[in-house]
Amino acid sequence: MVAKILDGKLLANLVLESISLEIEAIKNSNKRLPTLAVVLVGSDPASQVYVRNKKFACNRVGIRSLEYNLSDTISEEELANLIENLNSNVEVDGILVQLPLPKHINSNNIMDKIDHHKDVDGFHRYNMGSLMLNRVAVYPCTPRGIIELLDSVNYDYVGINAVIIGASNIVGKPIALELLNRGATVTVCNSKTKNVAYYTKAADLIVVAVGTPNYLTKDWVKRGAVVIDVGINRLPDGTLCGDVDFCELKMVAEHITPVPGGVGPMTIAMLIKNTMLCYAHNSCV
Ligand code: GUN
Repeated sequence: MVAKILDGKLLANLVLESISLEIEAIKNSNKRLPTLAVVLVGSDPASQVYVRNKKFACNRVGIRSLEYNLSDTISEEELANLIENLNSNVEVDGILVQLPLPKHINSNNIMDKIDHHKDVDGFHRYNMGSLMLNRVAVYPCTPRGIIELLDSVNYDYVGINAVIIGASNIVGKPIALELLNRGATVTVCNSKTKNVAYYTKAADLIVVAVGTPNYLTKDWVKRGAVVIDVGINRLPDGTLCGDVDFCELKMVAEHITPVPGGVGPMTIAMLIKNTMLCYAHNSCV
């Protein structure tokens, strides 16, 4: 068996094309364009690449992006003041603060400051709490992208055994809640979990978000499982790879996401979708 590829690039393009059409209609009716404020603190190379890709996607569909590149010496108070200004700016629909922030800034305090109606990442405690209650307004982008990829092949979540490796606020915890809300039985492994393989060997769906190349190998996965790779790692020769041994696992899995071209483009497409949701809300208040 060779796994079917869950093509995130293709699906993300479909999402972005349909949003381009929506924005074309907004332009034709002379309405204000959706606007996303993108805040980057410091010069972490990976964050710079992510932010560049997000702005590129905004340009591609016709969303206006406002760029704030701030020095890593900025104080928490100054950053909080910027967020407050963006909150009260009626022309700004969404606010994205790229993580991680420098160590002297408490990210929770900054996330709390963002108006939850402008929280395009879905990281505000209001949106995270809503996800827990299955009463979502704005979904976190990476988990939502994974769900849209699985929905695209009519994946049936009910009663499946899902194993998430990695318990971060950005990916592990919210994807666990999404899957639970859809009727899956969910196990979340963290860096202290003993014998992760014990869980993965019994899994129908595995989501890996650990940041280690080739972490998941074929002897940890049962035949016919679905494998979602959230890792983006740069090897010494400059090439990108995920957390999954793709060559091995494509001979074992039923469906698998590639890196690049899997979850990454879907994360960005969901950010654009969330910006449109926030614009719809902002335009009618
Ligand atoms: N850092 C890593 N992933 C993300 C993301 O999805 N959003 C933000 N704001 N920062 C991140």
